[in-house]
Amino acid sequence: MRIAVIGTGYVGLVSGICYAELGHSVVCVDKDPDKLATLQAGGIPIYEPGLKELSAKGVAAGRLRYTGDLAEAVRDAELVVIAVGTPPLPSGEADLVYIDAAALEIADSLRAGAIVAVKSTVPVGTNERVQGLIRTRTTVPFDSVSLPEFLREGSAIRDTLEPDRVVIGAESREAAEKLASLHRPLTRNILITDLRSAELLKYASNAFLATKISLINEIANICEKVGADVSQVAEGMGLDRRIGPAFLQAGIGYGGSCFPKDTRALIQIAGHVAYDFKLLRSVVEVNREQRLNVVRKLETIFDGELRGKTVAVWGLSFKPNTDDVRESPALEIMRRLTEAGARVRAYDPVAMPNFRKLFGDEGVDWCDAAEEAASGADALCLLTEWEEFAREDLHKLQTILKRPILIDGRNLFKEEDLKGTSFVYYSIGRPSLNQGVREKAPLLQY
Ligand code: UDX
Repeated sequence: MRIAVIGTGYVGLVSGICYAELGHSVVCVDKDPDKLATLQAGGIPIYEPGLKELSAKGVAAGRLRYTGDLAEAVRDAELVVIAVGTPPLPSGEADLVYIDAAALEIADSLRAGAIVAVKSTVPVGTNERVQGLIRTRTTVPFDSVSLPEFLREGSAIRDTLEPDRVVIGAESREAAEKLASLHRPLTRNILITDLRSAELLKYASNAFLATKISLINEIANICEKVGADVSQVAEGMGLDRRIGPAFLQAGIGYGGSCFPKDTRALIQIAGHVAYDFKLLRSVVEVNREQRLNVVRKLETIFDGELRGKTVAVWGLSFKPNTDDVRESPALEIMRRLTEAGARVRAYDPVAMPNFRKLFGDEGVDWCDAAEEAASGADALCLLTEWEEFAREDLHKLQTILKRPILIDGRNLFKEEDLKGTSFVYYSIGRPSLNQGVREKAPLLQY
């Protein structure tokens, strides 16, 4: 199939490269000259394991190219995939300016019989809006399809080439069938729905996963008060097939480009039809609060005085294996620490340049290695569970820090890692592992 992908953000780039890997002829289009120059020179503007190599393979085979010329790319395409950004407006609603602009521009070059698929996460009704915009400019027949994307950063290639499911929202049976054939080599789980259901299903999936995370974080908070261990609780819950073990890792909450944005957008979508999505509003609120546990714990340890303290921070990206810092819990935590007068010594294996662009340099020393950041600090906060942090020897680490205080925001360390150390250790919802800050579980009487 000849495919044009509009927008080379996470979704567009990974999809385009993977369609080329499947043997299709793909042109990826972007307007940003810097991004385009990077891509044309064989680079990848994001950090995603394996993507650069897969792109080079597609380009070398003549199946994949990058261009700034949308008209030229669309003219020949049997399938046009819209994968431009839908950033949040201040209200939380998705901003559709890029979608609208892409629709209008595509219309001018669309060939008869083409399929226009929206892969960006968009509010219910957007595919119909795209259809309408295209029809204002052209009379050629075409089909509209909603093709929601479920990939995760850090495992984007696997998620795309071996997805749990592919959802195709379509009005025309023929267009749905064409896209089903395109994705059949990837999975047998292909669900064909109507346009609006496909659009809503993407938000609903992210809302469900975010809810799972906020639920286990609240359970963790209760664990701390009643003297239970959230990892054991989660393990037991996860053995129930109706619940499943995934997304029950307690910590400092979710970040990233999707969950925060999509949960707020869904609350807005509901609001537009006069529905108050109470549950999801609480999920968002719990998540906002959860990250502050780290700061509160430090305040308790330092008797409310963070001024003049040096705090090492390990991990700045919103999760491991990505350089994405959008809505990363580290942003709010570091803002609170520096505002309270602490000096932060920060380190992340790949996300430091992106983080610095967003956060600025005020109150922060950027370090080139984990141990350099820890060196001489009054306390260490672990905010992203990068693999390299798990390999750290805690016996050595406690001698590098000025004071052996470790706040483990991702429950990365285990009991055996801590054995024989004299850390003041705090993790989320595991009071029996805490050292130095152990609060005796109250006698429970009902
Ligand atoms: C998510 C969805 O998983 C994906 O399907 C959708 O297409 C885009 O949004 P992504 O944002 O890349 O993907 O990351 P994900 O692995 O889902 O993690 C999101 C956040 O939740 C991270 O901050 C992570 O640390 C946090 N998380 C995840 C938890 O706190 N606990 C968990 O158990 C799982």
